[in-house]
Amino acid sequence: MKKVLAILLVIVLAFSLAACNSAPATNSAAPTAAASKAPATTGKIGIAMPTKSLERWNRDGAFLQKQFESKGYKVSLVYSNNNVTQQVNDIENLIADKVNLLVIVAIDGTSLSNVLKSAADAKIPVIAYDRLIMNTNAVSYYVSFDNYTVGKLQGQFVVDTLGLKLDDKSKSYNIELTAGDPADNNATFFYNGAYDVIKPYIEAGILKVPSGQIKFQECSTAQWLTDKAMNRMQNILASYYSKGTQLDVALCSNDSTALGVTKAISSDYAGKNKVIITGQDGDEANLANIIDGKQTMTVYKAVANEAVVTVDLGLAILKGEKPDGTLISKSGWKFACTYDTKTYNNNNGIVPSYLLVPTVVTKDNLKKELVDTGYYTMGANGYPKAVG
Ligand code: BGC
Repeated sequence: MKKVLAILLVIVLAFSLAACNSAPATNSAAPTAAASKAPATTGKIGIAMPTKSLERWNRDGAFLQKQFESKGYKVSLVYSNNNVTQQVNDIENLIADKVNLLVIVAIDGTSLSNVLKSAADAKIPVIAYDRLIMNTNAVSYYVSFDNYTVGKLQGQFVVDTLGLKLDDKSKSYNIELTAGDPADNNATFFYNGAYDVIKPYIEAGILKVPSGQIKFQECSTAQWLTDKAMNRMQNILASYYSKGTQLDVALCSNDSTALGVTKAISSDYAGKNKVIITGQDGDEANLANIIDGKQTMTVYKAVANEAVVTVDLGLAILKGEKPDGTLISKSGWKFACTYDTKTYNNNNGIVPSYLLVPTVVTKDNLKKELVDTGYYTMGANGYPKAVG
């Protein structure tokens, strides 16, 4: 009898401990390694990146691969040509290959529900990397930068650089907005962050948008393509700025779009003033433009650190842990990161998120923020080159 009671006690204890440890009431069907058959220290990581054609994903892929491999894991790293069908196939293959963990940057955040159901069935945990994956309960965690803050920094930069004051309507400035890919969940966060800062100035008539294209959909750029951003800006300049109207600000959500917009401005636009152009990422071509005075700023996101968070998180999941905010103190990262269980709802619930902090980079602080920190080296040609 004593023995039976003891066994019952153990069972009850086990259940209550499991309840204490459970993650926030979120995407609860997401598998963790405890439920999966993943071994703790060996195995294979599947990494699905969107495209090689945008600079940063090459760096992200390389950092993730190197860091997982240094911990003893095999890595399958795939790029899917910005093609949604190909990405679904690529992820299917990674699942068939029995990877123990998937790290995915979605090309279209809403198109992976079916394939991720297969991942969940195979008990493979999924980390949404940089971009949130929508409409699925298969995603365990999200690792990114604070995307709304990225946009806010861009908007605030415009306000500060022009010295705008809501009670001073003596001067107005012309601004055009270029947003990102509507299929990328991040794009609206960037746009909203920037727009929330500049909106009062637009409403006060201090910032004017001659094209009238203000809503996210009107300003968006499919697949973040440089050429699309360039063509749209060429059309805007030809239609709304031909009669000597000056463009003062091109608020661009990222560097690939800023590159296109900069091309349009320098080839088609005979404005005499200097256009403030924002960006994001610190792509090499854009940093060169910043040094040459053609782009004004970029919001830098240290993707090497984003990879560090993802690797530490992935390893914890594979060990059967249920990481939460304490992962940050346990890991001893030397960069800022917050644990967020409020902001990122993927229509299936909140996805617990680790969010890193972005930095404004201009010509003035480029060396200090990017070169002295070791993220870039200064090339012999005087332009920064990304490390890694
Ligand atoms: C990333 C940006 C990048 C953009 C285009 C976004 O999801 O957060 O860093 O510029 O995709 O690749």
